[in-house]
Amino acid sequence: MTQANLGHVLVAADGDALAQIAAHFVRALVGEAAARGVARIAISGGSTPRAMNRILASLDLPWGATEWFWVDERAVPDESDRSNYGAARSDLFSKLTTPPRGVYPMIASPATLDADARAYEALMARSFGLSAGSAAPSFDLLLLGIGDDAHTASLFPGDPFVDETDRWVVGVPAAEGREARLTLTRPVITAAKRVIVLAQGSAKKGPIERARSAGSLREAPSRLTREVRGELLWLVDAAARPT
Ligand code: 6PG
Repeated sequence: MTQANLGHVLVAADGDALAQIAAHFVRALVGEAAARGVARIAISGGSTPRAMNRILASLDLPWGATEWFWVDERAVPDESDRSNYGAARSDLFSKLTTPPRGVYPMIASPATLDADARAYEALMARSFGLSAGSAAPSFDLLLLGIGDDAHTASLFPGDPFVDETDRWVVGVPAAEGREARLTLTRPVITAAKRVIVLAQGSAKKGPIERARSAGSLREAPSRLTREVRGELLWLVDAAARPT
């Protein structure tokens, strides 16, 4: 049994400081990876990363050596305010004067989720120079959020998808109050060289403490962070700070 990875916890005074620190961490890590050729980054959606992305847009990164992927996406049009890609395009990619080497949104439709998942797997295989079905690709940097229910990516409590160990991307059917989605799976997330979990607000304190404690992955899918083989950083504001 390998030792659980509880990572490091870095506490920012408030949301503004969190966004600034996160943006500068991303800039440093992306720059380091890009110096080796290409930096491949997978980003999550939700509200927390938006302030960070708006700051990133103003920073000097080696954009031409970066490839951007999504950790998960809702099956909605890009123009929808629920679209993770749409938000990142508005906050970050639309503001860049130097285009990234690649920006690869997940394209998902409720009627073709599995085909869409396989198409994204094929895109990842091409980018990483891997054959489909080989060991999971290892992102240079992967950014996660955590839900109030201790979900991460689009791996939700009670769903079977957190137990998927072969596929790199799976479709998650719509559920009560939740669109159908595509999500990276636990093998991909845990293979990342560096994972940063970004969390803000008191509602995240309990889920973070659950994520960092032993227990069922089905009950708290964000516990998969304990299996991250690379470096893990919990970047939180004071309200979300785990005890
Ligand atoms: C999604 C996200 C999801 C998100 C958490 C936290 O598409 O919903 O990827 O995993 O990171 O739900 O969301 P907030 O940042 O809005 O709290």
